[in-house]
Amino acid sequence: MRAIRLHAANGPAGLSLDEIDVPAPQPGEVLVRVHAAAITRDELEWPVDRLPATPSYELSGVVDALGAGVEDVAVGDEVYALTGFDRDGGAADYAVVPAAFLAPKPQTLDHVESAAIPLAALSAWQALFDHGRLDPGQRVLVHGAAGGVGHFAVQLARHRGAHVVATASRANLDAVRKLGADQVVDADARFEEIVEPVDLVFDTAGGERLKRSPAVIRPGGRLVSVAVEPPRDAVAGHELTAVYFVVEPSRDQLIEIARLVDGGELRPAVAEVFPLEDARTAFERSLAGSRRGKIVLRVAD
Ligand SMILES: NC(=O)c1ccc[n+]([C@@H]2O[C@H](COP(=O)([O-])OP(=O)(O)OC[C@H]3O[C@@H](n4cnc5c(N)ncnc54)[C@H](OP(=O)(O)O)[C@@H]3O)[C@@H](O)[C@H]2O)c1
Repeated sequence: MRAIRLHAANGPAGLSLDEIDVPAPQPGEVLVRVHAAAITRDELEWPVDRLPATPSYELSGVVDALGAGVEDVAVGDEVYALTGFDRDGGAADYAVVPAAFLAPKPQTLDHVESAAIPLAALSAWQALFDHGRLDPGQRVLVHGAAGGVGHFAVQLARHRGAHVVATASRANLDAVRKLGADQVVDADARFEEIVEPVDLVFDTAGGERLKRSPAVIRPGGRLVSVAVEPPRDAVAGHELTAVYFVVEPSRDQLIEIARLVDGGELRPAVAEVFPLEDARTAFERSLAGSRRGKIVLRVAD
């Protein structure tokens, strides 16, 4: 089969398109014929201790074969998943995924749109609801709101009944407003002088915005981040809880997310689609600047 593999810890330049054997699913695992896989900025920095590694931790495809003991998934099922970060991903014709991570893909979307969901939407879900404890009526500020994770965070927070404030690059402000943000702020502005105190900041951008965020959080509020850990000196002296976390696969949350998608409450944004063989260009593009939504690799029709 074709597989994109990272051979050296030097970003997109370390990728090549290889021919390798189709992997065999072990007990509890499933072989998925991949139709599409999405990529995440910076993810080539994650598997550098286990090279060569196939990137793309989220995929949509069709179940091709079952490992021993798998009972709740059947050959031919259309599925989507966030795979584990300790194993090969979806930028290949086939991927082996633990059965426990697979969920039925949204019925109203094709594979390319479905692949754009798992990592980013689960990150947003877990940030807002598990780590951020966002309740209806609370105020949340999302940084990087047009990005892969941010565009889901705006929609999910709005759906939960929160008041949503969002920062994004100027060119993306209208798009973020259309996602449901109540207030949008240019990423270059001093948001902490404009925005009323919030219960939760969810940062997906890092940098200055993350550093300046404690100033806008009400006493007892929360700062949740996924891009980088909140710097200690930025948090010191503020009465808040700061959390950096790594997203975890969750079939149950993906089922809930697919239900929202099929009910018209949540839409993935696909910024660009590349054929599998152009993965290196796709990864270069992911590092090149901000965009609206996710970059997806099309693997099969
Ligand atoms: N810890 C975890 O479990 C976890 C999970 C998911 C993602 N992540 C990481 O979190 C970050 C956000 O993920 P994402 O998928 O939302 O990424 P993304 O779409 O590329 O970026 C999100 C936003 O970050 C800002 N940004 C800052 N530096 C950028 C750069 N060099 N290139 C492009 N945009 C940049 C942009 O916002 P503006 O336009 O407003 O400037 C962009 O919309 C990435 O670093 C990713 O690796 C971590």
